[in-house]
Amino acid sequence: MPLHTLISKDFYNEKARDSDWYKENRDGYQGALKAFDMSPQEIIDEVKTSNLRGLGGAGFPTGVKWGFVPKDSGKPVYLAVNADESEPGTFKDKYIMTWDPHRLIEGIIITCWAIDAHVAYIYIRGEYVRPYEHLQRAIDQAYRRGLLGDRVMGRDFKLDVYIHRGAGAYICGEETGLLESLEGKKGWPRLKPPFPAVKGAFGAPTIVNNVETIAHVPEIIKQGGQWFADLGCEKNGGTRLMCVSGHVNKPDVYEIRLGTPMYELIYEHAGGILDGKKMKAVIPGGSSAKVLTAEEADCDCSIEALQAAGSMLGSGGVMVMHEDTCMVKALQVITSFYAHESCGQCTPCREGTGWLLTTLNRLLSGEGRPSDIDTMLSLSGNMQGTSICALSEAAAWPVESFILKFREEFDYMAAHGRSMVADEESAPAA
Ligand SMILES: Cc1cc2nc3c(=O)[nH]c(=O)nc-3n(C[C@H](O)[C@H](O)[C@H](O)COP(=O)(O)O)c2cc1C
Ligand code: SF4
Repeated sequence: MPLHTLISKDFYNEKARDSDWYKENRDGYQGALKAFDMSPQEIIDEVKTSNLRGLGGAGFPTGVKWGFVPKDSGKPVYLAVNADESEPGTFKDKYIMTWDPHRLIEGIIITCWAIDAHVAYIYIRGEYVRPYEHLQRAIDQAYRRGLLGDRVMGRDFKLDVYIHRGAGAYICGEETGLLESLEGKKGWPRLKPPFPAVKGAFGAPTIVNNVETIAHVPEIIKQGGQWFADLGCEKNGGTRLMCVSGHVNKPDVYEIRLGTPMYELIYEHAGGILDGKKMKAVIPGGSSAKVLTAEEADCDCSIEALQAAGSMLGSGGVMVMHEDTCMVKALQVITSFYAHESCGQCTPCREGTGWLLTTLNRLLSGEGRPSDIDTMLSLSGNMQGTSICALSEAAAWPVESFILKFREEFDYMAAHGRSMVADEESAPAA
């Protein structure tokens, strides 16, 4: 399947940052105009028909989520756009904010009309300085040109959009950690239920959606939910941005139709494996997704196909490792990230990530014991289903899958105190 450019057409096009250019060349803000002639329920139904599923990681159906907002809470409704983008291997949202910010703003307008929100927050990763600057400039321009503010596009609809900059904590991408941080508190995830759609920011109903999810909304409204659904596969409509990194010749963001074969993405679009080497493993959906062997990765890019292969499409971060990768080292890199980012509220996550890292470090230092491998499996088993948020599972899944699929490398390291892989090269950081 050829690459698609539904939301990536203007990556690297500086002109697209201007709202007039966006209007003249991309039918910009026509989706918002059309939405104002529809009822909120009609928009929600259209998004349900589109099979748009959240692109932040969990893949929850977007229209269904919007439908959860209570109509009679007596409280304001908020939209919180998740631009934290801290999952290792994921770097697509920054492209949207940097190159096509008005698409995101238009998506925000339509979403807020659909959920009856008059305030939207964009929670952006603190390290994203340039994306923040471009987005803020576009928001300022949108106010000046009457696209935001007291009368959005001349309609009787008020909408204010604020950017909130994070301070570099991965956990603030988890939706309730994000809301706590937005409220000025430590970004500690909340127990759920209640879910944010019912009780979110400042105790009021809040829809949390990923940047890419919202960026798809204008085309869905302009071209119709069914059109979008037909672009994808059965339960997973449209296109999505895949971030390909690691041992490939052309690491980049590629927009594909859902259902595109993973091998096509890696070998055709991303130019195949560096130095003509053999592919060894693929992490298909950000570092929390279970690793696949090269054979298992021979499947389609869709939520269902990757679930069937034993992993997930997650945040679309495809990390490719070639034959010279030491899987023990690669796992240590991932685990040190989660040990650093655990917020420490839950014992299994706080202690589990720490002990996993200690054990991996011992293995890599040549002091490992044969029993370390089963200890790590036991630790990661105890980290699942026992914590407030999914970071604990996100840390456990790589450990389980790396050991399950590449056990001989771990046993070898414990027995011989060195890697069984010739070059001992770990996967490059994304
Ligand atoms: C530890 C952790 C980190 C997360 N980080 C992000 C993130 O950086 N960006 C994001 O959009 N979603 C992230 N999520 C998922 C959010 O909690 C939430 O599901 C998502 O923003 C909902 O938007 P969507 O339905 O459009 O995908 C994270 C989840 C967890 C458990
Ligand atoms: S699972 Fe980990 S990151 Fe999530 S709330 Fe518990 S300690 Fe914090």
